[in-house]
This record gives sequence, C-alpha cells and structure tokens, in this order.
Amino acid sequence: MPRWTLVRLNAAHPIASFSCGNRDGAREIDAYLHHSALLEQSQRLAAIWIIEDPLTDNPAERIAGFFTLSPVSVRIAPQLLAANKLDVPYAQVGGWLLGRMGLAERYQGDGLGGALVAEAIRQARQLQEATAGVLIVVDPKNDRLLAWYEALGFGFTRADPTNLKQRRLILKL
Ligand SMILES: CC(C)(COP(=O)(O)OP(=O)(O)OC[C@H]1O[C@@H](n2cnc3c(N)ncnc32)[C@H](O)[C@@H]1OP(=O)(O)O)[C@@H](O)C(=O)NCCC(=O)NCCS
Repeated sequence: MPRWTLVRLNAAHPIASFSCGNRDGAREIDAYLHHSALLEQSQRLAAIWIIEDPLTDNPAERIAGFFTLSPVSVRIAPQLLAANKLDVPYAQVGGWLLGRMGLAERYQGDGLGGALVAEAIRQARQLQEATAGVLIVVDPKNDRLLAWYEALGFGFTRADPTNLKQRRLILKL
C-alpha cells in the first residue's frame, strides 16, 4: 500500500469523524471504532490497524480505513481439514479473525478494501512465524460481502460448505 501509512490505533486518531457509510452493518463498524476499539485494544482483545492517508488536507479525515485482527480457534470439519492439507486429529485449529473492517466512504470503490484484506493476511502470516496458527477467518455480514471476499482472489473458502446459512470464510495461511 505505497500511498498509505499503516499504524496501530492510538488515542490521537480522529476516530469520531470516521464513517464508512450506511450500508448493511456499516454503522456498527463505525460505532465499534468510535466507542470500543481503544478499550479492546488496551485489553489486548484485538489489534486495530488504521490506514492513514498522509496526503489529506483535513486532519479529521486522516483515517482512510481500519481493520481488526484477533486470535481465534475454529471448528473445522475433517473433510475440510483434509482439503486444506491439514492432517491433524483436532476438531479445532487456531488462527486469526479478520474482524471489523471499514473504509471511509470517500475511499470506497477503488479497490482499497482488497488491499486491507491483503495486509491482514500478510500480518497473520508474520504472526504465524512467531506463534504458529493456520487460518485467517472472516465472517461476512451479508451475501454481497461474502461474494466480494470470494472474488478478491485470495482463496477464501467456506468454513462449512454443507451449511450455506453460515457465511464464515477461511483461508489457509
Ligand atoms: C467492504 C469495503 C471495505 C470494501 O471496500 P472497496 O474495496 O472500496 O469496495 P466497494 O466499496 O466498492 O465494495 C465492494 C462491493 O461490496 C459492496 N458492499 C460494501 N459494503 C457493503 C455492505 N455493508 N453490505 C453490502 N454490500 C456492501 C459494494 O456495494 C460493492 O458492490 P458492487 O461491486 O456490486 O458495487 C467497503 O465497502 C466498506 O467499508 N463497506 C462498509 C463497511 C462494511 O460493510 N464492512 C464489512 C466488511 S466485512
């Protein structure tokens, strides 16, 4: 992401003015950043990564977007473990949840969302070096976002292909 600066959320960020719009679930994502993110990060429940736009003239618009990463343990069907070449006798395996993610409205529609996902994958791979962990997991809020993740081309697949009501996606790191 050459134009962008990626930093951990801190108390100096202008979080109150961040808005990723009105689409399904977007307001909850704003509310999370406004009210919960700093506390969750201080409690080590999630790492919140902010994408700053250093070229903006308005300091209140410095946050172009954000995403969260946190550790997760996922129940995986044996056939899916095998399909991902995970030859282990465990019902659950560990990895990272790409949790909330949003782009400020003015940055949407240019593919930057895909760059955020790529960055989350890159970070999870780095963490994997230090701690192990095999998957990155996302829970798309609706079918359109599910299709968006699948179309990004990173190789996300359904965590439970037999249950199409469940939208959870996984990617083997
Ligand atoms: C998801 C997001 C980061 C993608 O950013 P982007 O790469 O710039 O891509 P776009 O904004 O063009 O969105 C991609 C597609 O998803 C759709 N989309 C985005 N957010 C959506 C939402 N909350 N619900 C349904 N569809 C949504 C867009 O309409 C677009 O569909 P289209 O290609 O048919 O027009 C950004 O749209 C966003 O911040 N959305 C609001 C917050 C959100 O829903 N976050 C949840 C991520 S799991």
